[in-house]
Amino acid sequence: MNKDNFHIKVSLTSNPYEIVIGKNSLESLGDELSKIGFKDGLKVLVVSNKEVSDHYSDCIIRSLIKNKFNPKLLILKAGEEQKNQSSIDLIHDAAYEARLERGSLMIALGGGVIGDMTGFAAATWLRGIHVVQIPTTLLAMVDASIGGKTGINHSKGKNLIGAFHQPKLVLIDPKTLFTLPEREFKAGMAEIIKYGVISDLELFELLERQDNISELSKINEELLIEVIKRSAKSKAEIVVKDEKESGVRAFLNYGHTFGHVIENLCGYGKWLHGEAVAIGMVAVGQLAVQRGLWEENDAKRQKQLIKKAGLPTKWPKLELKNVISSLQGDKKVKNGKVSFVMPLTIGNVKLFNNISNEEIHECLQKLS
Ligand SMILES: NC(=O)c1ccc[n+]([C@@H]2O[C@H](COP(=O)([O-])OP(=O)(O)OC[C@H]3O[C@@H](n4cnc5c(N)ncnc54)[C@H](O)[C@@H]3O)[C@@H](O)[C@H]2O)c1
Repeated sequence: MNKDNFHIKVSLTSNPYEIVIGKNSLESLGDELSKIGFKDGLKVLVVSNKEVSDHYSDCIIRSLIKNKFNPKLLILKAGEEQKNQSSIDLIHDAAYEARLERGSLMIALGGGVIGDMTGFAAATWLRGIHVVQIPTTLLAMVDASIGGKTGINHSKGKNLIGAFHQPKLVLIDPKTLFTLPEREFKAGMAEIIKYGVISDLELFELLERQDNISELSKINEELLIEVIKRSAKSKAEIVVKDEKESGVRAFLNYGHTFGHVIENLCGYGKWLHGEAVAIGMVAVGQLAVQRGLWEENDAKRQKQLIKKAGLPTKWPKLELKNVISSLQGDKKVKNGKVSFVMPLTIGNVKLFNNISNEEIHECLQKLS
């Protein structure tokens, strides 16, 4: 057992599990699985993509074999455009070939795309088999891998097909970030800043005090682990309060409503998810200031921190009517009204569901 691993409990009543964070935690995968009750001979399908698998699948497979598990590896193509039904079919084909059974396990080794798809494939194979998340992007470590939201995109919108399916374990090894492209690292920082704004003023101020948060090589290891821990803990706490997103879990969508519009209208792949969320946070910050909910100075601090993380802040040129129609297609629309999570102070947000099209128009005009 790796004594240096740090454990965060996700204390859901029906599906409790742990997030394990540690410098060399990949090597302890087999032990961690045995510890939570998986037995010798367990059939395991590891799903990954080449960029990730080239670096980390050997270590994972070794650890599984050492603990007498029976792993198979499936490599998919990388990218948001792969997050579709065809990839799910490939995973299910591999599950069939590997003769996975009800008690078998799928492991997602990769970023949020691999995590969401593998989670969904596990949720739907034999009406639900176990899944373990091993996130290898910053975004997936602090957000996508925790909380059981799984799914794929539909041609009409992002994440329209999906299921709640909690993992048995989330294993985070920050050393995997050293092979991550820089732009992806920055995109993950957007989600960390999000946790600062929605629930953790101390985290926000910790980031504000740093000289550099945009380059991994300039961030010391303790700080990196600390911000991942704090963010993962925030996510876990929110998920425990509201597993199926009928209340406070909506706070996690801070910046995402506008972010999804950018992703939908500019095409998946033009902006990274975290970049779209960064611009979305600036936009909704403006909406909150306009409503008199948020101090202008706090909105400035948020924008500065986002800039310091090397993330975009400028709203792209988009037709208002397209923005409105994309917002109407958002999953969070109730009775035709779009909901927005808006900040009241840094570390404290609230959900508003009475935003008019005129307000959105005014906000976007100010941003462009
Ligand atoms: N389920 C949720 O709760 C949730 C939350 C947030 C986001 N998401 C989803 O997550 C997805 C975005 O995830 P992402 O930002 O992790 O992107 P991603 O999964 O597309 O990964 C980004 C790129 O980095 C590469 N990569 C990943 N880890 C690497 C590593 N360690 N070394 C080298 N290359 C590596 C991947 O191959 C890919 O090319 C979106 O589809 C979004 O909808 C889901």
